[in-house]
Amino acid sequence: MDTHCPPPPQPDRRNFLTKAAAAVVGGLIALVPPLAGLLVVFDPLRRQTENSGAVLVTSLGALPEDGQPRKFPVLATRVDAWNRTPNVPVGAVYLQRVGGDRVRAFNVVCPHAGCFVDFRAANNHFHCPCHNSSFGVDGKILDPKSPSPRGLDELPVEIRHENEIWVTFQNFRAGVKEKIPA
Ligand code: FES
Repeated sequence: MDTHCPPPPQPDRRNFLTKAAAAVVGGLIALVPPLAGLLVVFDPLRRQTENSGAVLVTSLGALPEDGQPRKFPVLATRVDAWNRTPNVPVGAVYLQRVGGDRVRAFNVVCPHAGCFVDFRAANNHFHCPCHNSSFGVDGKILDPKSPSPRGLDELPVEIRHENEIWVTFQNFRAGVKEKIPA
């Protein structure tokens, strides 16, 4: 008989190893839902808008000659690690002619708390229905008691090929006097 053979593992030791392996596997499985949640939370960080510069919004012919503002959606191409999705709505703007072929653009978002402003043609001004801020056609605050801390956020506009209106779209932080990109 070989006296150098190691003794067979004791049942207690086997039980311990089985339980330890089960605990590790169970722990890994338990981590999956929170990790999936984190991926969802941080998903926007992985998404980008292609051509984060100017986007084509409309043509000059779509704007009335009398300077009345018109509202347009802003569509951009969104890209992430797997997809490239064209024509995703990223916001909206009011566009108006301001003499000849010059065009002015305002973000439709109210700088007070982020509601969308309306244009009231009868009064020729912008109005926010949430807390009654009002803005002139030039975007400036009309009522000194307006809760909005600043006028409407103007955006850079470029006319390309004599007719195309390109806007560099940007959102800004609400509730502060300064125009800070959001
Ligand atoms: S969100 Fe426009 S006035 Fe408050």
